[in-house]
Amino acid sequence: EKAGHKHFMAKEIHEQPQTLKDVLDAYLDDGRIAPPATFDWTGIDRLTIVACGTAHIAATVAKYWFEKIARLPVECDIASEFRYRDPVIAPGTAVMVISQSGETADTLAALRHAQGQARTLAVVNVAESSIAREAEVAFPILAGVEIGVASTKAFVNQLAVLLMLAVRAGLDRGAATAGTEAEWVAKLTALPGLVSQALAVEDRCEALAHRLAEATDILFLGRGPMYPLAHEGALKLKEISYIHAEAYASGELKHGPIALVDRTLPVVVLAPTDALFDKTVSNMQEVMAREGQVLLVTDAEGARRASHGVWEMLVMPTVDPVLAPILYAVPAQLLAYHTAVHKGTDVDQPRNLAKSVTVE
Ligand code: M6R
Repeated sequence: EKAGHKHFMAKEIHEQPQTLKDVLDAYLDDGRIAPPATFDWTGIDRLTIVACGTAHIAATVAKYWFEKIARLPVECDIASEFRYRDPVIAPGTAVMVISQSGETADTLAALRHAQGQARTLAVVNVAESSIAREAEVAFPILAGVEIGVASTKAFVNQLAVLLMLAVRAGLDRGAATAGTEAEWVAKLTALPGLVSQALAVEDRCEALAHRLAEATDILFLGRGPMYPLAHEGALKLKEISYIHAEAYASGELKHGPIALVDRTLPVVVLAPTDALFDKTVSNMQEVMAREGQVLLVTDAEGARRASHGVWEMLVMPTVDPVLAPILYAVPAQLLAYHTAVHKGTDVDQPRNLAKSVTVE
């Protein structure tokens, strides 16, 4: 049942090239992005995305995409905050909820709160769930059953669906930055192969695990869409290895967290070579100047330009920066997984956590 893997989480990490291909096959049709459910983005002026945990992190990646590609303003909210805050839902707003299980109590309550005030959309894995049934339009992520409490393949497929919806919205709205549909289809189609190549960093992650397992705190840094990924790396690590981890936007480093840096602090820097690369590198140098142990996750070009003085590197395949969050989920997962395995924690069923949080 674990297909030769030690844990469901490992199996699910390794399934990602295939589960990603499955969702792309369902959403791409003959050079077009044609989701299995339809939503017309033309009358929408604003998008509010509501979710919990990893699904909320997927929402914060989607914010970058919807704003960049579709020029649609996006607000992301944690479901337990949204449902009780009496949020202003302006006319022309669409409210999207994201949930793997489709049964998360706060997310379901947030959806119910939005009903009647806004168009509602759901991005869900479990097709026959309450959230899938109650939303006006439900987009399936088709990741298959996810058993590990730490969400992996569902996160990657959520991202893929959200990117495709952002492109669809961009095309519907005639956003100049959307690019052509054919260009997007080509980029998306290359993704499963790239994710499969990204899995090659696993040996390195396993080799580093004993060092990370010794740490009491680990910092994750990123800029742009890599900032949410820093949150994903920190959340995965906390959940299954019980090591305290925090994520910061790289630019926030000198506004507080740099005070934590000393030679006992591993700092994971997620930095593909994009337009923000040099800025992230200069933050990384500030960490190294204070003897922080930098683990740089980058591509070959980044490794060539910024390896000097880093403790370790994970070299990822080169990818269009827009798609990088999907690829960089893999090292975030593998670092957490191997650190937890090294510590001997219960990876699939970490203490105090449930797969589906159906009570608030
Ligand atoms: O089923 P959902 O996507 O609504 O669940 C939301 C969170 O409970 C979930 O993502 C949680 O944070 C995971 N354990 C993260 O790995």
